[in-house]
Amino acid sequence: MEKEEIAAYKKAGEIVKEAHELSKKKLKVGTNLFDFSEEIESAIKKKGGFPAFPINLSVNNVAAHYTPSFESEDVLEENAVIKVDIGVHVDGYICDTAETIDFSGKQTEMVNATKEALEAAVKLVKEETELGVIGEKIQKIIKGKGFNPIQNLSGHGVQQYDAHTYPTIPNIANNDTKVLEDDMAIAIEPFATDGQGFVKEGSQAEIFQMEEKKPLRGREARKIIDFIEEEYSTLPFAERWVQRDLEMSEFSRKIGLRELMQKKCIGAFPLLKEDEEKTVTQAETTLLLNEGKVIRLY
Ligand code: CO
Repeated sequence: MEKEEIAAYKKAGEIVKEAHELSKKKLKVGTNLFDFSEEIESAIKKKGGFPAFPINLSVNNVAAHYTPSFESEDVLEENAVIKVDIGVHVDGYICDTAETIDFSGKQTEMVNATKEALEAAVKLVKEETELGVIGEKIQKIIKGKGFNPIQNLSGHGVQQYDAHTYPTIPNIANNDTKVLEDDMAIAIEPFATDGQGFVKEGSQAEIFQMEEKKPLRGREARKIIDFIEEEYSTLPFAERWVQRDLEMSEFSRKIGLRELMQKKCIGAFPLLKEDEEKTVTQAETTLLLNEGKVIRLY
């Protein structure tokens, strides 16, 4: 890895750390999640970073991909178990991280299960470690605490302007014999639950990502895709960002986004949920493998 690249990753790590500190200070029962998201994301920009994806504030049985819509009235509810998943990039180099905050006071064990699984997984990170071995460790720790790892969510590589790339880092023993290699940047993210350990897609989506630029019929769709490419490149974005920053009527925006979805120019990240009444916790950090050394960014 080039020096400049490592420096950018490290700066992203520092900014993300401050963002988590700020969120722990600001998040309280009753906090408006739209205002909170905007505040955290603008703090990231003020420090010279950029959100690598919209802040994810998934609560209780929602494991991932919730971010508030524009001017949403959603507030942090009593007893919420909230996963604060924040990604920051500097020049496209991404640090992807998550912490769980338990406002119920009842899920300390489940919160600790993902924290401990993450720490144990981090200790295994070096060249030649098999991916399946990391998953096996995560599974063993989470199971040992009496919970299930979520089998269809996994860690992942990151690359410049690519938030989810090879390798896939499992949260279960899947016997994958592919190995970690020098020059990789990887995010490890164990999820634990008292549910079955399998998430399903919900119908709601607030987060999208450019897939491919194609010829478009509508003026609205063309305007939006040009804006997306310019502002977010190939990284995930929130509809609320488009609404906030691109001057366009709600009607035009809906028409444009619909065409972009239909033509698969953009893809959606629907909410990912465990069963109702169940709880999910998550812990995540990003690491670099560089010339025999492991650099933990967060
Ligand atoms: Co991640």
